[in-house]
Order: sequence, then structure tokens, then C-alpha cells
Amino acid sequence: MDIEQLLAERARLVDSELPDLLLDIKPPELAAAVAYAIDSKGKRIRPALVTLSCEAVGGTARDASFAAASIELIHSSSLVLDDVIDKSEKRRGRYTIHKMWGTDMALLTVQILAALSLKIAARDPRLIHAIADSLFYMGEGEAMELVDFAKDKKSYLELAFRKTGSLFGSAAEVGALVGGGAKEQIKNFTEFGTHVGIAFQIRDDILDCISKEEDIGKPVKNDLFMGRPSIVILDALNSGISIERMMKCNNGELMHLVSDSIDYAEEVAREELELAKGYIETLDESPAKRRLKELGEYIINRSK
Ligand code: IPE
Ligand code: IPE
Ligand code: MG
Ligand code: MG
Repeated sequence: MDIEQLLAERARLVDSELPDLLLDIKPPELAAAVAYAIDSKGKRIRPALVTLSCEAVGGTARDASFAAASIELIHSSSLVLDDVIDKSEKRRGRYTIHKMWGTDMALLTVQILAALSLKIAARDPRLIHAIADSLFYMGEGEAMELVDFAKDKKSYLELAFRKTGSLFGSAAEVGALVGGGAKEQIKNFTEFGTHVGIAFQIRDDILDCISKEEDIGKPVKNDLFMGRPSIVILDALNSGISIERMMKCNNGELMHLVSDSIDYAEEVAREELELAKGYIETLDESPAKRRLKELGEYIINRSK
């Protein structure tokens, strides 16, 4: 089974946890916005990470399906909020919630999605800590984006950890937790997920420069035009290419202009992935362990 098939299989597990959630939401406008957020399915990479982490310590994917659903709901809530902050009009190939229902309803959708996530997580209270940690870090990470925090590799990595690495870390952590992993193992999974997540964010920054909107389902060059920290743009700036020059480029031209910085970003993503793999090295060989490494490779090479 290749990674795309695996993602689809794990997505079905998550979907099986979700239908009852929407029954009780009032008023209907809010229910519609929340249903729309849940219906517009993403790549479901985090659920794959949760369930594979669970299997890698001896559990089954099904043991972790509620944990995977909880993590995916937190992720969805963070995207609705991020789109408000980034003023993005497209997500997963559809109009964003704030574009459809307005900013106020979008912010309330964020709250409801987070509440639904916590309701599911409460089936195993140990999950609440992991989710609280990543909610906290993601809030800090999004704020760091607004205040020009990332100036070099070190500060960029700190931001990427908060914004994206932390939730990937929690995903692997809760998977290992519900799989019955030992304390030390769980810590290693948290680190594994965190570094995979940072690599994921670096690939996201690259895709922002090299992709077409129809391929990634969200606006491209948003980082450039919104002034959001991207490791590619940061490195290009630090090598003396001005923002004005980058902004004048069309897609193909930008890719060419910042090609050295794209190479650099690919190297840093590779470093993060290798760092991540180090944390699961001592784990017994298993199909799940192999797939976790394949998932990492997929993440740094993906085109959407
Ligand atoms: C997008 O995450 C937000 C980032 C952390 C860069 P994904 O690329 O996993 O989003 P979906 O769920 O597939 O839409
Ligand atoms: C998203 O970061 C991070 C969170 C949702 C916490 P980005 O702003 O880089 O993600 P996209 O590009 O909008 O998906
Ligand atoms: Mg964004
Ligand atoms: Mg953003």
C-alpha cells in the first residue's frame, strides 16, 4: 500500500468518529459552517501519524481512531483561524469559512471545532494535556508570525515548531499513548512528530513559492504578499534578494529567482526528517515503523 492509499484508509477511520458530532449545534448557520469545515477534507496526514504511532508501539489503528479524530479537529480549527488571520479566500479547493459566513461566524466555528476535539479527547483524559500543549503553542506560533519574529534559521525553527511541529508532536504522542507505549517511548514519539511537523511546514513554505493554486487548493505566494515568515523567503532576503524583486515575479520567475533558497529549504527539511527518524531508531522493526519513515519522506517531497 502506498502512502496515498494509507492516508485514504486512515481518513475513513477518522470519518467513522465524526457523524454524531454535528447533531446538536445551534443555530443552523453555525451548524452549517462547522459541517462545511468538517466536510472539506484535507490530506489527513495527522490522523495517519496518530494511528501509525499507535501501531508502532503495539496497538491497532482502530484503538487510536478517536485520538486521530480529536487531533484532526484541532487541526481543522487552527486552519479556520489561520485563514481569518491570513485573509485567505481558499482552503482545500473551496471558499474559506470567513469568506462564506463572515469573520464572526468563522471565529465561533473555531471554538466549536476545538470543543468537539476536546469532547472526543476526554474519552482518555491523558490526551487533554497533549492537546492543550499544542493549542497553546499554535497560538504563540501564529502570534510570532505577526511580529516579525523569524529572522534566521534558529528563530524560524522555533516558530515552525510552535505553529506546526507542536501539533504533529501531539499527534504522535497521543498515538503512542493510546497504543500503550512506555513513558520513554512516548517522549521519543513526541520528538519524532515534532520534527516531522517542522519538516512539513518547510515543505509548505516551498509549495507556497512553486505551486499553482489549483494543485494545493489554497492561495500561492501568500507568504510573500502577506509578509508571513517562510524559510525560502527569509533565506532569499538574507542573500540580498529584495522583497520588491520577488513580488514582481510571476510563479515561474519566482521559482527561478529563489532557487538557491528552495534548495536550502529542502536541505533543512531533510535535516529535520533525519533528526525525527533518530527518535524512532531504537524501536523494534515493524510495518508501522517502516510506514512512519515513508510518511516522513512523503511529507518532504509532496506536491500538495
Ligand atoms: C496546512 O496543513 C497547515 C500547515 C500546517 C502548513 P495541511 O497541509 O495538513 O492541511 P490539510 O488538512 O491537508 O488541508
Ligand atoms: C498554518 O500555517 C499553521 C496553522 C494553521 C497553525 P500557514 O499559514 O503557513 O498554513 P497555510 O499555508 O495557510 O495552510
Ligand atoms: Mg495560512
Ligand atoms: Mg498562517
